[in-house]
Amino acid sequence: MDSLEPVIADPFVVSLRTALGRALGWLTYPRKPEEYLAALAPRHFGPIRAEVVALEPHFDGCATLVLRTDRRFGKHRAGQFVSLTIEIDGVRRTRCFSISSAPEGTRGPRDIELTIKSTARGAVTPRLVDPSIVGTTVELSPPMGSFVLDAELPPRLLFITGGSGITPVISMLRSLDRKAIREGAPGAKVTLLHFARSEREALFLEELRQMPWLDLHLVTEEALGRAPSLDEASLAAVVADFEDTRAYACGPAPLLRAIERAFASRRASDALTIERFQSAFDGRSEGTGTVRFARSNKTANDSRTLLVVAEEQGLEPKSGCRMGICGTCHCKKLSGATRDLRTGEVSTEANVDIALCSTVAIGDVSIDL
Ligand SMILES: Cc1cc2nc3c(=O)[nH]c(=O)nc-3n(C[C@H](O)[C@H](O)[C@H](O)COP(=O)(O)OP(=O)(O)OC[C@H]3O[C@@H](n4cnc5c(N)ncnc54)[C@H](O)[C@@H]3O)c2cc1C
Ligand code: FES
Repeated sequence: MDSLEPVIADPFVVSLRTALGRALGWLTYPRKPEEYLAALAPRHFGPIRAEVVALEPHFDGCATLVLRTDRRFGKHRAGQFVSLTIEIDGVRRTRCFSISSAPEGTRGPRDIELTIKSTARGAVTPRLVDPSIVGTTVELSPPMGSFVLDAELPPRLLFITGGSGITPVISMLRSLDRKAIREGAPGAKVTLLHFARSEREALFLEELRQMPWLDLHLVTEEALGRAPSLDEASLAAVVADFEDTRAYACGPAPLLRAIERAFASRRASDALTIERFQSAFDGRSEGTGTVRFARSNKTANDSRTLLVVAEEQGLEPKSGCRMGICGTCHCKKLSGATRDLRTGEVSTEANVDIALCSTVAIGDVSIDL
């Protein structure tokens, strides 16, 4: 496994790079320097492209897509995600998806898999799980995210997943399975607690049952006759001393909240890493003042994130994760003070890039949109 040791860059090189980046930014404003490079030499600087070469259905509205990426995609780490951009009815839309294949994939060297459950009335996912998607070219970001295994494998691992939240975890389990095949054991005692509506909707169930080293616990609504719930006691029934395991969780927001409470009650929140599929900021209303979208000449008094405010005004800024991780929604703040909800930091500088999805206005703000 790759080392996670941080690479310390020379401070002089960092400040030179920052200064050059700023100078280029001023020269090419209102476009970004990379946009000019992409137009001049698309094969080198343009977006990473991938062709959908196969679609494998799981159940109604859920399928695995096989994408053949171009050479620049590189290798992902198990658990990471990509942002995918596709044009639908003339509108370019971006959404994030975990890579469900292992980095040591069993298909072609440049193939990755995304397992997608379509969202009712969603703008993108219904199109992606439609068989006519095969042959379509989409754009991808490089692999992103820190929901990955630690550089040094701990003695015990606990994965807790719900529904399509198993997608980043299956990539890790597949990776551990390759290790088990190579070395005779995965290198850790591994437990998976997975929640699904029914056995039929339990993604990858047959494959998971073929992993002899995996301690698999499946809880289905169908078998229980009611919606499953999770608390400290029911988690302890699966792994008695769960506070001493390295845990990863991904699934619907109520499940994640229950898992966080269980770990907090044993003062073990540090042992838990969570991946969220839904925005952590959309409902947050922490801003004040007036937001002006300068190019479109629209103004709003709205305390929500600048992305939501822009969408409410009928604008269509680009967005992906809506959580401040993918960079898709970055936009220039022309003036005014804003707060970054990820860090709590207040920025009063003019002409700086901000992430619309995780920023609120404090006072009167002007945005280059
Ligand atoms: C890091 C990350 C990894 C992810 N990995 C996966 C994955 O592996 N697999 C997966 O399936 N998903 C994954 N997701 C979630 C995926 O990105 C969402 O399923 C996707 O954003 C939904 O896209 P959509 O365009 O279909 O729905 P959207 O158009 O974004 O709609 C989302 C919700 O809003 C509602 N909505 C939309 N428009 C309206 C309207 N006009 N009125 C009322 N309600 C409306 C929809 O009903 C829906 O519930 C991931 C998300 C993140 C952030
Ligand atoms: S949408 Fe991903 S950073 Fe804002």
